[in-house]
Amino acid sequence: MTDPIASLIEHLPKAELHLHIEGTLEPEMMLALAQRNGIELPYASVEEIHAAYEFDGLQDFLDLYYAGMSVLIEERDFHDLTRAYLDKVADQGVTHVEIFFDPQAHTDRGIAFETVLSGILSALESGVRELGITSKLIMCFLRHLPEEQAFDALACACRHKDHIHAVGLDSGEAGNPPEKFARVYEAARKEGFLAVAHAGEEGPAAYVKDALDILKVSRVDHGNHALDDPQLVARLAREKIPLTMCPLSNLRLKGIPDLAAHPIKRALDAGLLATVNSDDPSYFGGYINDNYIAVSNAVGLSPDEIITLAKNSFAGSFLSDREKQAQLDAVDRYVEKL
Ligand code: ADE
Ligand code: ZN
Repeated sequence: MTDPIASLIEHLPKAELHLHIEGTLEPEMMLALAQRNGIELPYASVEEIHAAYEFDGLQDFLDLYYAGMSVLIEERDFHDLTRAYLDKVADQGVTHVEIFFDPQAHTDRGIAFETVLSGILSALESGVRELGITSKLIMCFLRHLPEEQAFDALACACRHKDHIHAVGLDSGEAGNPPEKFARVYEAARKEGFLAVAHAGEEGPAAYVKDALDILKVSRVDHGNHALDDPQLVARLAREKIPLTMCPLSNLRLKGIPDLAAHPIKRALDAGLLATVNSDDPSYFGGYINDNYIAVSNAVGLSPDEIITLAKNSFAGSFLSDREKQAQLDAVDRYVEKL
């Protein structure tokens, strides 16, 4: 008999709001691109790559994540990567995506910003045309690098304002507080970009508060440790700040001892606009529906809570109010038909 929770989730319309496109690089594609581009990898097979994906924490993962993306060289590599992701989630009810990319991880290797962007954009355009998946792009600053280098990335983004919707902040959180990027965020907001930031993934609740107060983000990526601070929780609820949570990522990076300890149910109970996302699905063993199913089973989410999560994904997106309403209506129609 099919699991009723899994079949509710299977084609439930949903948006993915926390997805690093470089984190969708599957071992098969890594090996194929290495061969296509003449890059040497320390792995000879898919099995060896899988075996390497045991992480002690965020930094341990990031070391492999940056090494893995060395196979991405040409525009068509970025296109193929992005299109493969869209093809996967098209079968999982995903109708809208807001995708992160890490330009500094490529420009530092001598790959032009425009090569990266053009490849991703052409795939996103084919995704809306051929799969009906709408999208927005979020350019992340790498927080382990100095703020001056983030300003260089921002200068590139300013040449492509029509295609880049928001700026974000990712990479190693510990020791790289939001404050380090206060000036570049201010400049980005003045240029008209919206702002999000990873905060409270490994860092404390204070980083979430600083992302709101200093970086003026309209959405928090992860936000797990915000749950440690009741006053902050009340504020997040009052201000309807979305949290883009990533259960399998937190499990694999040892942010939680097991999925039953994931704070998503506590976030929903507190009235937060929590959402479920996959972060880096190729590295963490699951795409968006795997995350929904695993966390629902582990913390015991009801069908109504699962529907709320899907609705939150549209409510917390950067779609216009009209577009949000159309997507929310589609969720209602899907649920009525069940
Ligand atoms: N870059 C890719 N995945 C990330 C994560 N989970 N946290 C911070 N930076 C990242
Ligand atoms: Zn992330």
